[in-house]
Formats: sequence, structure tokens, C-alpha cells
Amino acid sequence: MGKDVIIACDFASKEQVFDFLSKFKEEKPFVKIGMELFNAEGPDIVREIKRRGHKIFLDLKLHDIPNTVKKAMAVLSRLDVDMTNVHASGTIAMMEAALEGLTREDGTRPLLIAVTQLTSTSEERMRDDLLINEPMDKVVMHYAMNAKKAGLDGIVCSPLEAEKVHASCGQGFLTVTPGVRFADGDKGDQVRVMTPEQAKKIGSDYIVVGRPITAAPDPVEAYRRCVREFVD
Ligand code: C5P
Repeated sequence: MGKDVIIACDFASKEQVFDFLSKFKEEKPFVKIGMELFNAEGPDIVREIKRRGHKIFLDLKLHDIPNTVKKAMAVLSRLDVDMTNVHASGTIAMMEAALEGLTREDGTRPLLIAVTQLTSTSEERMRDDLLINEPMDKVVMHYAMNAKKAGLDGIVCSPLEAEKVHASCGQGFLTVTPGVRFADGDKGDQVRVMTPEQAKKIGSDYIVVGRPITAAPDPVEAYRRCVREFVD
């Protein structure tokens, strides 16, 4: 599995996403479709982007009873996405069910990764709202180990956590890391950020980059810069 740059296509409509993707004449970037675009446009948006030759990370973060997640995953697998995800807090049984649902008759399946604790959840909120009294770091690593035990391929984490996740769960366990910014770029609302070059050094397998590419004056050049810094 090679390192790759995944563009977070956080657009509200298919017109916007196709307008954006049509700027790429030479390369076919790996794209992330989140719940906003998927819920606005439905599964056809996935089919159309696949038809245009892109790989897709369908970021719907499923979290429900195991049987429901298994059935939903079987549907997503038929859409031929390349990567999708669940919340690790749904339990090991739910993650195992997700994997079962994703696996096609011929044994192939999309990559499945888990979200541990969302970066929007602080340790204080985790303690007071969720009644989880352990340090964030310990919770994230525990959830990562659960994902590994369930047979998942990796987790979404901050690039700052990637090294530790590889140390505990193995080098082959994928780390998919958002929160990437160019050294001379705007951080926006992201707090703990890293450049593509730093993410490469620390061992992230995939970086997920949204606004530094989608809001750039020249998105194709910004994408190429990410690839140069992270992959090449
Ligand atoms: O525009 P930006 O590069 O900040 O986009 C990052 C993408 O990664 C967004 O789609 C965001 O929802 C997602 N993400 C994140 N932090 C997480 C999990 C997902 O920024 N912990």
C-alpha cells in the first residue's frame, strides 16, 4: 500500500465537486467524500466520481448496532469505494461486523479504518460528557488496539499520533492523518497541524488535505506540492 494524498472534497453539491475535479487533467487524485456531499447527492455521487477514475475514501463514520452496520457496509462495498470508516467507540463486535459486511463474495473489500476520539473532543468533554476518566492519549491508543483486534486496516489520527500508533499496532497498521498545512499556509480552524513533509517523516500512510488544496488559487499546483512533499 503506497503513500498517498487524499483530497477532502468538502463541497455541498455535485456541481461544486465536479467543477473542482475537472481542474485535474493529468492526475486522478484519491478523494474523500464526507457526509455532507453524500447526504446531499446520494450514492450516485460515488458512482460518478469512481467512473471518472478516482479512488474514494467514503467518510461516513458509521456507529450503530453491529447488524445494522454490517448491512450498511455491504451496501457501501457494492458502491466499490476504496476506503471507508466506523467509530471505534461502537465496540470490537461492531467493527468485526463492519468488516464482515464489507467483504465481497470474492474475498475483496475496501480498506476499513476507525475513528478513535474526534479531535473536536477535548479531554475535559470526554470526562464530563462521556464519563471517560482516562487521558486522551491512552483512550486513543486503546481504541486503536481495539480496531486492530477487530481486524481493521488502520485508524484516522493526528499526524502527531501516527508514530505511536505504528509503535503499538505495527508498521503495517495504516495511519490516515488530517490536520495538514503547508509551512507558509493558513491553519484555519485546525490546531495541531503538520506539513506534508513532516507527516512523511513521522510515517503517516495517507494525509487527508482539504482547504490547503480546495481553497488554493491553483488547486492542481497545491495538490502537486503535497505529493512532492509527502510522496516523492
Ligand atoms: O480543510 P482541512 O484540510 O482542514 O480538511 C480536513 C478534513 O479532514 C475535513 O474533511 C475534516 O472533516 C477531516 N477531519 C479532520 N480531523 C479529524 C477527522 C477528520 O480534520 N480528526
